Amino acid sequence: MSESAEATVYEYKELSSTNSQMRHLMKSEPMEELSVVMTHYQTAGRGQAGNGWESERGMNLLMSVLLHPCTIEVHKQFGVSQAVSLAVAEAVRSFGINGVCVKWPNDIYIDDKKVAGILIEHSIMGATLADSVVGIGLNVNQLRFVSNAPNPVSMAQQLGHPIDLFEVFERVMTHLTQQYERLLNGDEHGLTADYHQLMWRADSQLHRFKDDAGEFDASIAGVDDIGRLVLMLPGGDHRAYGFKEVAYMG
Ligand code: BTN
Repeated sequence: MSESAEATVYEYKELSSTNSQMRHLMKSEPMEELSVVMTHYQTAGRGQAGNGWESERGMNLLMSVLLHPCTIEVHKQFGVSQAVSLAVAEAVRSFGINGVCVKWPNDIYIDDKKVAGILIEHSIMGATLADSVVGIGLNVNQLRFVSNAPNPVSMAQQLGHPIDLFEVFERVMTHLTQQYERLLNGDEHGLTADYHQLMWRADSQLHRFKDDAGEFDASIAGVDDIGRLVLMLPGGDHRAYGFKEVAYMG
C-alpha cells in the first residue's frame, strides 16, 4: 500500500479482479475517493457484458479507481463514462500516439485496434450515484495477444519501444482527476462535445450496422443525453441505441 498526493494505492502481485477487490475492501473499511487498486496480474479479469479481460503478467495497466459521484443523477451516469474515456484517451495521446479515439460506449482505440477497455460498476442511492468502481485495462507493453482477443494493440507496439508503467499510471490519474472535476462542476456539455470529437468513425460516412430488425446502413451522429448511440439513416432519420442493442458490422 502506498500514499500518493490524492489517495491510497493498494498494489497486489496477483488478484482475481481489481474491481472485485475494490468492492471487497469497501466492505471492510471506508475508502476515500480516488483510492486505487492495481495489480500485475488478474486470474479472472472482468470485461463488459460478462466477457473476460486477459492481460500478460506485469505488462499492462490493470487498475480500479473509486469515485463517489453522489451529486450525479442516475440518468446522467454516462457522464462518468465520458469523463473516464476522455481521461484514458488523453493519457494515451500524451505519449505521442496518434489516431486515439473512443469507440462507443467506452472502448479506447488506436485507429481500428483496441488499446484499452473500461468497466464501470455503479452503486445507486435514491436518485443519484453513490459510488462508482472504475476498472481500466490499458495495454501498455504487451507485444503478443491471444488470437481470440478482439483486435488488440498496445502502446509499445504502436511506439516501437516499451514504456514505464508507473508513468502511464500517473498520467491516467492526472487526466482522470481533471475530467472528473469537470463532471462534478457541471460541465456536461463540454464533456459531451469533447467525447463527440474523439468518437470512432463519427465521420458522416455510412457504415453497416445490425439491430433486432436486421442490417442497415447509417452514419454515427453521436450520443444522446442518456448516453445512447445515435445513428443517422441515409434519409436523415435518427435512431438511438443502448449498449448491446446494435452491432457494428464493418
Ligand atoms: C471491456 O472492454 O470489456 C472492459 C475491460 C475492463 C478490464 C479492466 S482490467 C482492470 C479492471 N478489473 C477488471 O476485472 N476489469 C477491469
